[in-house]
Amino acid sequence: MLRRIMFFVLILVFTVGMSTAQAFAAGEKDLENEASNVAKLLISCRAVIAANQGLFNNPEIGDKGFTGDVYVSKVIEHFKNATGVEISESDATSSDPVKKALGTLLVSTKNVIDESQKVLNTKGKGFKKIIPATVGRRTGYKYTTAMGGDYYLKQTSLKYRNPANRPDAFEARILKEFESEGYPKGQGKGKVVTKADGSKIYRYMQPLYIKPVCLKCHGDPKGSKDIAGRIKEGYKVGDVRGAVSVMIPYPSEDLAQAK
Ligand code: HEC
Repeated sequence: MLRRIMFFVLILVFTVGMSTAQAFAAGEKDLENEASNVAKLLISCRAVIAANQGLFNNPEIGDKGFTGDVYVSKVIEHFKNATGVEISESDATSSDPVKKALGTLLVSTKNVIDESQKVLNTKGKGFKKIIPATVGRRTGYKYTTAMGGDYYLKQTSLKYRNPANRPDAFEARILKEFESEGYPKGQGKGKVVTKADGSKIYRYMQPLYIKPVCLKCHGDPKGSKDIAGRIKEGYKVGDVRGAVSVMIPYPSEDLAQAK
């Protein structure tokens, strides 16, 4: 009889232990999913801007028809193809924090393009500084301001051109990891981080790589000037150029348990 009870107790302890561990893992998986989708949405924004670079730089065309609405519909489609997730601008007012973050990011990036209409539609002007990096930086800033609290989004690099993109200690460490030999290409990295005040946040980074189209400004000859008058870094195709860095709040224990 005693043996039976002992056996039962053992099974019980094992089951409870396992489910707690699983709940913890599932909680972190949710955070990773949420943060990586925020990063991937900014990457979709960057990709849509890159795909329309020729249009933006064309001095012959005045009105380009590239309004915030046109842009956002392309971003929604790109993001759906990349992740399978459907989003809309109205998600910005959702009570679901995950939806709210993605919707707010969409509205933020739309505003950047709406605010750029005058320069974008200037006839007789070629390069207008509307490139993935500047749209990404302005979008990240608007999103971070709109979300407030522990939310934050930016592009960063160990060889940053803009001081606003300078990596903090955490970001520099992860960027070095991304650049290290043998690091699995394309894989993002997330971590629960404890802040100085003891509260926790979740941080995530998604690497960005040099593609042939980036070489015009970031490639060789190293030290020469690009179209924007900035110094080329001498990167090669496939190099880690930088990363999208995301921060989201860590749910309180009550919240995590209620899930
Ligand atoms: C037309 C020139 C041009 C092209 C093409 C270009 N970039 Fe950039 N890139 C810039 C400029 C200029 C900045 C600084 C932008 C700013 O002021 O925020 C920059 C900044 C960045 C940053 C932010 C870090 C930093 O240096 O401040 C990343 C990341 C980046 N570029 C990645 C890429 C990738 C990846 C590609 C190709 C898909 C690419 N860029 C193509 C000009 C370019």
